[in-house]
Amino acid sequence: MAPARIIHTPEEIVRIRRAAAVTAQVRDELARLVHPGMTTFDLDMLAGELIGRTGGESAFKNYCGYPGNICISMNDTVIHGIGSPDQLITEDDIVSMDLGVKIDGALGDTAVTVGFRENPPAEIRRLLEGTREALMEGIAAARCGAYIRDISAAVEKCARKHRLAIVRDYVGHGCGIKLHEPPEVPNYTGWGKGPRLEPGMVICIEPMLNLGTDAVRLDRKDHWTVRTRDGAWSAHFEHMILITENEPEILTWQKMM
Ligand code: MF3
Ligand code: CO
Ligand code: CO
Repeated sequence: MAPARIIHTPEEIVRIRRAAAVTAQVRDELARLVHPGMTTFDLDMLAGELIGRTGGESAFKNYCGYPGNICISMNDTVIHGIGSPDQLITEDDIVSMDLGVKIDGALGDTAVTVGFRENPPAEIRRLLEGTREALMEGIAAARCGAYIRDISAAVEKCARKHRLAIVRDYVGHGCGIKLHEPPEVPNYTGWGKGPRLEPGMVICIEPMLNLGTDAVRLDRKDHWTVRTRDGAWSAHFEHMILITENEPEILTWQKMM
């Protein structure tokens, strides 16, 4: 039977911590450099360049055949968007960048969604701030002795508060040596309680929240891009955290998030 959760060794945690910090650094550099007028292909190339400079490599490229360096998901795209030279970023768009860097046999995984307008419409602000807050509430619930369900409940409660729909078809996950490790970390409750959180567990918490309904659909042609069914916009934020004896350690923490 597959293990319910993975407890990483101190030696692994040293490498995972470094990979996560490098990933966060690239994320924040990308968030600073992304701008209207570039295409999502330009952004993917830039990400490839920045990742290469770290001495690591993209943890996503070729993962299950994924073709990009990072995932770039605009507006009604929820996750797993592929950079394209036909997709121009404009001032009115919101852009989610989800990236992973693999280095020294360990990896990081983190995502941020950014907008460009100084005064975005109230709805967009609710989407971006609500999703970011849901992530932070989920992290606050990730204390040793609690269960995965407690993280799910905290994210769900915050999403409700902001009247945002929770994507159910995709979930957070354990991470560190492989991109996706057990356990799953849903952003909703009603499935059980999952394993108990113990020091040495590394998990990615990643709310994907929508302004419309929770229903999503996979692109028929590329079999990667996940969009909302109703075309309403969606946001995605992700941090990788280490469960400790005390507060969780946010391994992908940097000033921008
Ligand atoms: N970054 C995604 C996650 O948070 C996984 C992307 S897999 C890829 O779990 F193949 F699309 F890159
Ligand atoms: Co990710
Ligand atoms: Co992830």
